[in-house]
Amino acid sequence: MIVLNVNGIKRQVDEDPDTPLLWVLRDNLGITSVKYTCGIAECGMCTVLIDGEAQRSCVVYVKDVLGSKITTIEGLPENHPVKVAWIERQVPQCGYCQPGIMLQTVDFLSRNPNPTEKQINDAMDNVICRCGTHPRIKKAIQMAAEMTARQGG
Ligand code: FES
Ligand code: FES
Repeated sequence: MIVLNVNGIKRQVDEDPDTPLLWVLRDNLGITSVKYTCGIAECGMCTVLIDGEAQRSCVVYVKDVLGSKITTIEGLPENHPVKVAWIERQVPQCGYCQPGIMLQTVDFLSRNPNPTEKQINDAMDNVICRCGTHPRIKKAIQMAAEMTARQGG
């Protein structure tokens, strides 16, 4: 039995420690907002925060995150600037890619609170939205950064 801290709650899981975190989140814990697409750390759909850092859960083993704080989109408060900006800017189309991209944004803004357009473009260059929502994603990131600045960081 292993214990994972997911969204602030300790969850017991009867699983092989060599299992990728993605599968434990989806299959054992039922958190299906974390998507499986490429399985090789290329697309970003499976991104979660591990101790605040965006990581691709398809290539992270559960044995390496015992004791870490794992956050999925459900763990972000509803008034988090990234969630508010995403709604305000009406970013999603099908929605499939959005949880991973939003979590990557949370990590990005924590390291770049006042990002330039180029920094945003570079940061979002390695995540894939097949619906083509990148222009709205970039606007939402700018809005989330401005909201965070107004709230005093
Ligand atoms: S499924 Fe993990 S990066 Fe694509
Ligand atoms: S909103 Fe459909 S894949 Fe991004």
